[in-house]
Amino acid sequence: MPTPEEIQQLRQLDRDHLLHPNVVLGEFEQAGGTIIVGGEGATVRDIDGREYIDAIGALWLANVGYGRPELAAAAAAQMRQLPFWSLFYGWSNVPAIRLAAEMARIAPEGFNHAFFTSGGSESNETSIKFARLFHVRRGHPSKQIVIGLQRAYHGVSYGAMTATGLERVREGYAPLVGAFEHIPGAYCYRCPFGKTYPECQVDCADELERAITRLGAGNVAAFIAEPIQGVGGVITPPPGYYEKVREICDRHDVLWIADEVICGFGRTGKLFGIENWTVRPDLISCAKGITSGYLPLGASLVSDKVYEALRGDGHQSLNHGFTYSGHPVAAAVALENIRILEREGLPARAAALGESMRAQLLALSNPHIGEVRGKGLLIGVELVRDRGTREAVELAPAVELACRARGVILRALGGNIISISPPLVITEAQAARVVAVLDEVVRQVCGASGRAGQAAQ
Ligand SMILES: Cc1ncc(COP(=O)(O)O)c(C=O)c1O
Repeated sequence: MPTPEEIQQLRQLDRDHLLHPNVVLGEFEQAGGTIIVGGEGATVRDIDGREYIDAIGALWLANVGYGRPELAAAAAAQMRQLPFWSLFYGWSNVPAIRLAAEMARIAPEGFNHAFFTSGGSESNETSIKFARLFHVRRGHPSKQIVIGLQRAYHGVSYGAMTATGLERVREGYAPLVGAFEHIPGAYCYRCPFGKTYPECQVDCADELERAITRLGAGNVAAFIAEPIQGVGGVITPPPGYYEKVREICDRHDVLWIADEVICGFGRTGKLFGIENWTVRPDLISCAKGITSGYLPLGASLVSDKVYEALRGDGHQSLNHGFTYSGHPVAAAVALENIRILEREGLPARAAALGESMRAQLLALSNPHIGEVRGKGLLIGVELVRDRGTREAVELAPAVELACRARGVILRALGGNIISISPPLVITEAQAARVVAVLDEVVRQVCGASGRAGQAAQ
C-alpha cells in the first residue's frame, strides 16, 4: 500500500502531467480523479482502499473480470518466449496464427480471415478501408461513401470519428474525412420518425435505402453500425431491422460493417452481438472484450466475399498494417480470454443475468425509470420525469456521481441515460445491489428535481 505522502504525490503528478480523455482540463487540474489500483471479479479498489462494484466493465470491456491469473500467465509466458514479431511482408508469429484460426472458428459462418489492430478505432479504420478497397478491386472505384447512424460511436481516429454520429466527439477537429453520411437509427423509445413498432414495419431501416438512392448506389461503399449502439444510449434495434439492412445492402451492392467493439465477446448474451438477429454482415470490427482489456487488441474480421475481392487476381498487395497488428503477447492473452469465456459459459450467463437485471429494474415501478433496454449485460436505463410523458430528466451525471459515492460505478450517457455493462462474472448479489442503489439514487436525485420544479412553479 502506498503511504499517505505517496498518494498525495501521485494525485499531484496526475493533475500536473497526465492528459485524460474526456475531462474538462481546468476542472481536472483542481479536483483530480479517482485512482484505481486493483480489482477482483466485478469489483475494483481505489488508492484510498474504497471498493466499488464496477457496473460498467471499466469501458464496456472487462468481460471475464479482474484478477485472472491465467491471463497474466499467458502474457508472461509469451513475453519470455517472444515479446514481439511483426506480420509485415509475410513474417508471422504463433499466437497471431492461432488467434486468427480461433476467430474463424467462433465468428459467424463465412468469416475466415482476421486482420489484427490495437483497438476499436483502428479496427473501424481497417473495415472502412477494406470496404472501399473491395469496390476498387471489383472495378467500382466511385463507391466510396460510408453511411453511418446518428448517435453512433466508432472511435476517435479521423475515419472512425467521421463515421461517428455524435457531434460532441467531432467538435473542433474539422476538416473531417470526406464521403461519410449519417441517417437516423432505430431509436424506438423516441422514434425519429414519430412511429411505433411494430406498426412502423421498421421504416427506419428503409431510411438506409432512401439515403443510398439519394446519394446514388454507384457512390456508396458501406453501411456501418453497432449492432446495439453503446455510447449513443444503448439503442437497441427491434427484430427485423438488420434483416432489412441486409436486403437493402445486397440490392445496392453496399457492404455492411458491424462494429462489434462493445457487443462482441459475450456482452449481449451471444459471442457476437449481431447473432441476436438472423442475418450476418460483411465485415466485423472488434476490440475490447477480445482480451477483456488485459492488453490492447482489436480485429477486423473479413467475410469470404470481401476476402475474395481483396485478393483480386492474386497479384495485388494489401497495403495496410499497423506495427502492432498481431502482437504476439496480446494475441496469447486473447486466446486465453476466449478459452475462459467459453469454459465458463459467460455469454449465456450474460444473457440470463441481463434478462434478470432488466426485469428487476422494470419491476421497481420507479416513476423516473422510463425505459430499460439492451441485450445481455449491455443495459440502458432512460431517466424521465414520468413514464407517461417520457419527458427526459437530464440528471444522469448526478445519478452517476451519487451511485459512485455508494460504491457502484455506472456511466451517464449524455443527459438522461445510464448504462450498465458489468463484467460478465458479476454475481447475482452484486447485480441486485447495483439495481437497489440505482433505484434509491434515481428516486432521490430525480424526485428531488421534480419537487424543486413543482415548488418553483
Ligand atoms: C462501438 C465502438 N466502436 C469503436 C470504439 C473505439 O474503440 P477504441 O477506443 O479502442 O479505439 C468504441 C470505444 O468505446 C466503441 O464503443
